[in-house]
Amino acid sequence: MTDKKNEQKPDGTQTSAMWGGRFSAGPSAVMEAINASIGFDKKLYRQDIQGSQAHARMLADQGIITSDDADAIIKGLDDIKAEIEAGTFEFSAALEDIHMNVEAALRARIGDAAGRLHTARSRNDQVATDLKLWVRDALDGLDRDLQALQTALIEQAEKHAASAMPGFTHMQTAQPVTLGHHLLAYVEMLGRDRSRVTDARARMNESPLGAAALAGTSFPIDREKTAAALGFDRPAANSLDAVSDRDFAMEYMSAAAICAVHLSRLAEEIVLWCSDQFGYVRLADEFSTGSSIMPQKRNPDAAELVRAKAGRVIGMLNALMIVMKGLPMTYGKDMQDDKEPVFEVADTMALSLAAMTGMIEGAIFNAERMKADAGKGFSTATDLADWLVRTLSMPFRDAHHVTGALVKMAEDKGCGLEDLSLADMQSVEAGITDAVFGVLGVDNSVASRKSYGGTAPDNVAAQVAAARKRWL
Ligand code: ARG
Repeated sequence: MTDKKNEQKPDGTQTSAMWGGRFSAGPSAVMEAINASIGFDKKLYRQDIQGSQAHARMLADQGIITSDDADAIIKGLDDIKAEIEAGTFEFSAALEDIHMNVEAALRARIGDAAGRLHTARSRNDQVATDLKLWVRDALDGLDRDLQALQTALIEQAEKHAASAMPGFTHMQTAQPVTLGHHLLAYVEMLGRDRSRVTDARARMNESPLGAAALAGTSFPIDREKTAAALGFDRPAANSLDAVSDRDFAMEYMSAAAICAVHLSRLAEEIVLWCSDQFGYVRLADEFSTGSSIMPQKRNPDAAELVRAKAGRVIGMLNALMIVMKGLPMTYGKDMQDDKEPVFEVADTMALSLAAMTGMIEGAIFNAERMKADAGKGFSTATDLADWLVRTLSMPFRDAHHVTGALVKMAEDKGCGLEDLSLADMQSVEAGITDAVFGVLGVDNSVASRKSYGGTAPDNVAAQVAAARKRWL
């Protein structure tokens, strides 16, 4: 068949020009609606064309098609790409998917040579190749977006290397830490996210192209050549696996889901810290919203939405895992449902990371408020116990006991540990001297936490430099 149009059947329906040869009636409207993927897989047009061009070039190099035909195919595909990018290409649901839409358009442009493009290839290896190329770009995009957020966090960490704030366990004030240290904790998390992206990219970078429908092909193709042309490290070794593998999509979404969990935790802290009860941070106007009824309000909607979107990303990962579980070898049309979750995750991650980066860049932290809170709740009790161990050679358990008694005394008096008099302290432990007051303030406390990975301002400054070197 040389006409791109579908064939008119006696019942008035049309059968597919691509595969309708053995059919006498065309699909029902419902069949077309459930079968067509063009509504979403048109996103793959660039990858589809890139894969087809590599395939055509290889076919000509191997003498499977003429180089005139290959040239016409490659040029025709370039023109189609331009048309799609100009927004003038007409996509057709009757042609099901991006692969057949492009091929039919090619036939309309260059005639019979277009029919040779699908030699030694199937939509099964074609779609796996297209989606892999797309996910590879998505991984690279995720890495770039993560780096931008790390940059914003590192800048703020540098500014606040010495700003004290309460460190929490069980959401209770535990020990003073520095805000820079707290922000760098997220830089570490995002660094692991990036290393998951790097790992996933390296593992997935094998070409399915040339696996054909499932069994390989009898044509003398060169899979190394198409793999190299598409930037893959090598061809996938097993044709059955090549067409049925969607690990790469699940792994991308797994990495994204873990990252989304990290973003959600940071988002939750922003929400808490923006409240009057905390008052630790003020987001820039550009990243705050007002209330339609309460004029005084500044809501952290973007943070709440980033927190929510983790649910969507985890849900999409779930969706594809459930599609894939129990699928027998090799391709099943179920796998067409892999794309929307992947696209949804990519859009969601790009938006969440951009919003989070914007919030962090413009955030104004209230260092005084944080420092005042850092001293509340007997947060330097551990410093007192450590001092007793260091100075009086007390076993830590005894020091813990003495400190507990002093905390109780301060609590009864309604004051902080540092507000107890020396006489008060000595009434509990006679060996205590004036020098104890040197470890009790918040600043003294954080400055003393110099162990590797600890919260001391000097450490944070060094960690900022190290993080810049490692991640930016
Ligand atoms: N639109 C299909 C998909 O996304 C392309 C592959 C179709 N292959 C097939 N044998 N019907 O999975």
